[in-house]
Amino acid sequence: MQKTVVLVKPDGLQRGLVGEIINRFERKGLKLVGIKMVRLTHDILDEWYAHHKDKSFFSDLKKFMMWTPIVAMVWEGLDVIPAVRKIVGTTKGREAEAGSIRGDFGMSGQHNLIHASDSPEAAEKEMHLLFENHEVFGYGSLADELVYSKEER
Ligand code: CMP
Repeated sequence: MQKTVVLVKPDGLQRGLVGEIINRFERKGLKLVGIKMVRLTHDILDEWYAHHKDKSFFSDLKKFMMWTPIVAMVWEGLDVIPAVRKIVGTTKGREAEAGSIRGDFGMSGQHNLIHASDSPEAAEKEMHLLFENHEVFGYGSLADELVYSKEER
Protein backbone atom coordinates (compact mmCIF):
# COMPACT_ATOMS: atom_id res chain seq x y z
CA MET A 1 0.00 0.00 0.00
CA GLN A 2 1.02 3.60 -0.58
CA LYS A 3 2.64 5.79 2.12
CA THR A 4 2.47 9.54 2.67
CA VAL A 5 4.23 11.96 4.99
CA VAL A 6 2.19 14.39 7.08
CA LEU A 7 3.62 17.19 9.25
CA VAL A 8 1.68 19.07 11.88
CA LYS A 9 3.32 22.47 11.42
CA PRO A 10 4.28 24.79 14.33
CA ASP A 11 0.92 26.61 14.21
CA GLY A 12 -0.94 23.28 14.43
CA LEU A 13 1.15 22.26 17.44
CA GLN A 14 0.67 25.65 19.18
CA ARG A 15 -3.08 25.50 18.60
CA GLY A 16 -3.40 22.04 20.10
CA LEU A 17 -4.57 20.38 16.89
CA VAL A 18 -2.28 17.32 16.91
CA GLY A 19 -4.96 15.02 18.34
CA GLU A 20 -7.68 16.41 16.06
CA ILE A 21 -5.48 15.86 12.99
CA ILE A 22 -4.54 12.30 13.97
CA ASN A 23 -8.21 11.57 14.70
CA ARG A 24 -9.29 12.64 11.22
CA PHE A 25 -6.88 10.22 9.57
CA GLU A 26 -7.66 7.40 12.00
CA ARG A 27 -11.41 7.63 11.53
CA LYS A 28 -10.92 7.66 7.75
CA GLY A 29 -9.38 4.20 8.06
CA LEU A 30 -5.74 5.09 7.41
CA LYS A 31 -2.93 3.23 9.13
CA LEU A 32 -0.30 5.10 11.20
CA VAL A 33 3.09 3.52 10.49
CA GLY A 34 5.47 6.21 11.82
CA ILE A 35 5.29 9.20 14.19
CA LYS A 36 7.77 11.48 15.96
CA MET A 37 8.48 15.05 17.05
CA VAL A 38 11.26 16.77 15.12
CA ARG A 39 12.94 20.16 15.17
CA LEU A 40 13.52 21.02 11.51
CA THR A 41 16.84 22.52 10.39
CA HIS A 42 17.98 24.79 7.53
CA ASP A 43 19.52 21.76 5.80
CA ILE A 44 16.35 19.67 5.96
CA LEU A 45 14.16 22.58 4.85
CA ASP A 46 16.46 23.52 1.95
CA GLU A 47 15.87 20.02 0.58
CA TRP A 48 12.24 19.71 1.64
CA TYR A 49 11.25 23.00 -0.02
CA ALA A 50 13.87 22.97 -2.83
CA HIS A 51 11.07 23.67 -5.35
CA HIS A 52 10.22 26.91 -3.44
CA LYS A 53 13.80 28.18 -3.06
CA ASP A 54 13.31 31.08 -5.50
CA LYS A 55 9.96 32.16 -4.06
CA SER A 56 9.73 35.44 -2.14
CA PHE A 57 8.31 33.63 0.92
CA PHE A 58 11.08 31.00 1.14
CA SER A 59 13.05 32.45 4.07
CA ASP A 60 9.86 33.33 6.01
CA LEU A 61 8.57 29.82 5.39
CA LYS A 62 11.78 28.29 6.77
CA LYS A 63 11.68 30.56 9.83
CA PHE A 64 8.05 29.57 10.43
CA MET A 65 8.82 25.85 10.10
CA MET A 66 11.66 26.15 12.66
CA TRP A 67 9.61 28.16 15.19
CA THR A 68 8.78 25.06 17.28
CA PRO A 69 9.23 21.32 16.74
CA ILE A 70 6.80 19.72 14.32
CA VAL A 71 5.03 16.35 14.53
CA ALA A 72 5.98 14.10 11.61
CA MET A 73 3.89 11.09 10.64
CA VAL A 74 3.78 8.41 7.99
CA TRP A 75 0.31 7.15 7.04
CA GLU A 76 -0.44 4.15 4.87
CA GLY A 77 -3.44 3.20 2.75
CA LEU A 78 -4.78 2.61 -0.74
CA ASP A 79 -4.08 5.74 -2.83
CA VAL A 80 -3.32 7.44 0.47
CA ILE A 81 -1.52 10.44 -1.10
CA PRO A 82 -4.59 11.90 -2.88
CA ALA A 83 -6.90 10.72 -0.07
CA VAL A 84 -4.90 12.65 2.56
CA ARG A 85 -4.64 15.78 0.42
CA LYS A 86 -8.45 15.87 0.18
CA ILE A 87 -8.73 15.66 3.97
CA VAL A 88 -6.06 18.40 4.34
CA GLY A 89 -7.68 20.85 1.85
CA THR A 90 -6.13 23.44 -0.49
CA THR A 91 -3.17 25.61 0.59
CA LYS A 92 -4.97 28.76 1.77
CA GLY A 93 -7.16 28.07 4.80
CA ARG A 94 -9.60 30.85 3.98
CA GLU A 95 -10.29 29.28 0.57
CA ALA A 96 -10.10 25.61 1.59
CA GLU A 97 -13.24 23.48 1.50
CA ALA A 98 -15.30 23.38 4.71
CA GLY A 99 -14.87 19.93 6.19
CA SER A 100 -11.17 19.78 5.33
CA ILE A 101 -8.58 20.38 8.09
CA ARG A 102 -7.43 23.70 6.63
CA GLY A 103 -11.01 24.65 5.76
CA ASP A 104 -12.22 24.00 9.31
CA PHE A 105 -9.30 25.38 11.33
CA GLY A 106 -7.28 27.88 9.27
CA MET A 107 -7.32 31.22 7.47
CA SER A 108 -3.72 31.63 6.30
CA GLY A 109 -1.71 30.58 3.24
CA GLN A 110 1.50 30.08 5.21
CA HIS A 111 0.18 29.17 8.66
CA ASN A 112 -1.81 26.35 7.12
CA LEU A 113 -1.41 23.84 9.97
CA ILE A 114 -0.32 20.77 8.09
CA HIS A 115 1.80 19.41 5.26
CA ALA A 116 1.02 16.34 3.15
CA SER A 117 3.16 14.80 0.37
CA ASP A 118 1.89 15.68 -3.10
CA SER A 119 3.30 12.73 -5.08
CA PRO A 120 4.89 9.31 -4.54
CA GLU A 121 8.31 10.84 -5.33
CA ALA A 122 7.80 13.59 -2.72
CA ALA A 123 6.61 11.04 -0.14
CA GLU A 124 9.74 8.93 -0.71
CA LYS A 125 12.04 11.95 -0.44
CA GLU A 126 10.28 13.32 2.66
CA MET A 127 10.28 9.95 4.40
CA HIS A 128 14.04 9.64 3.88
CA LEU A 129 14.65 13.18 5.15
CA LEU A 130 12.86 12.58 8.45
CA PHE A 131 12.66 8.85 9.18
CA GLU A 132 15.19 6.04 9.55
CA ASN A 133 14.04 2.75 7.99
CA HIS A 134 13.41 1.21 11.43
CA GLU A 135 11.11 4.13 12.38
CA VAL A 136 8.55 3.21 9.72
CA PHE A 137 6.70 0.10 10.84
CA GLY A 138 5.11 -2.75 8.93
CA TYR A 139 2.36 -4.43 10.94
CA GLY A 140 -0.96 -6.13 10.34
CA SER A 141 -4.07 -4.03 10.89
CA LEU A 142 -7.29 -5.80 11.85
CA ALA A 143 -9.18 -2.71 10.70
CA ASP A 144 -7.98 -3.22 7.12
CA GLU A 145 -10.43 -6.12 6.77
CA LEU A 146 -13.27 -3.72 7.54
CA VAL A 147 -11.95 -0.67 5.72
CA TYR A 148 -11.14 -2.43 2.41
CA SER A 149 -12.80 -5.11 0.33
CA LYS A 150 -10.90 -8.35 -0.35
CA GLU A 151 -9.91 -7.12 -3.83
CA GLU A 152 -8.59 -3.83 -2.43
CA ARG A 153 -6.44 -5.33 0.32
P1 CMP B 1 2.55 23.43 1.79
O1 CMP B 1 1.65 23.40 0.61
O2 CMP B 1 2.52 22.38 2.80
O3 CMP B 1 4.06 23.57 1.28
C1 CMP B 1 4.56 24.82 0.83
C2 CMP B 1 4.27 25.84 1.88
O4 CMP B 1 4.68 27.15 1.58
C3 CMP B 1 2.75 25.96 2.04
O5 CMP B 1 2.24 24.80 2.59
C4 CMP B 1 2.66 27.20 2.90
O6 CMP B 1 2.97 26.94 4.26
C5 CMP B 1 3.79 28.03 2.27
N1 CMP B 1 3.26 28.97 1.28
C6 CMP B 1 2.68 28.67 0.10
N2 CMP B 1 2.33 29.81 -0.55
C7 CMP B 1 2.71 30.82 0.25
C8 CMP B 1 2.65 32.24 0.13
N3 CMP B 1 2.14 32.82 -0.96
N4 CMP B 1 3.14 32.98 1.13
C9 CMP B 1 3.69 32.39 2.21
N5 CMP B 1 3.79 31.05 2.38
C10 CMP B 1 3.30 30.28 1.42
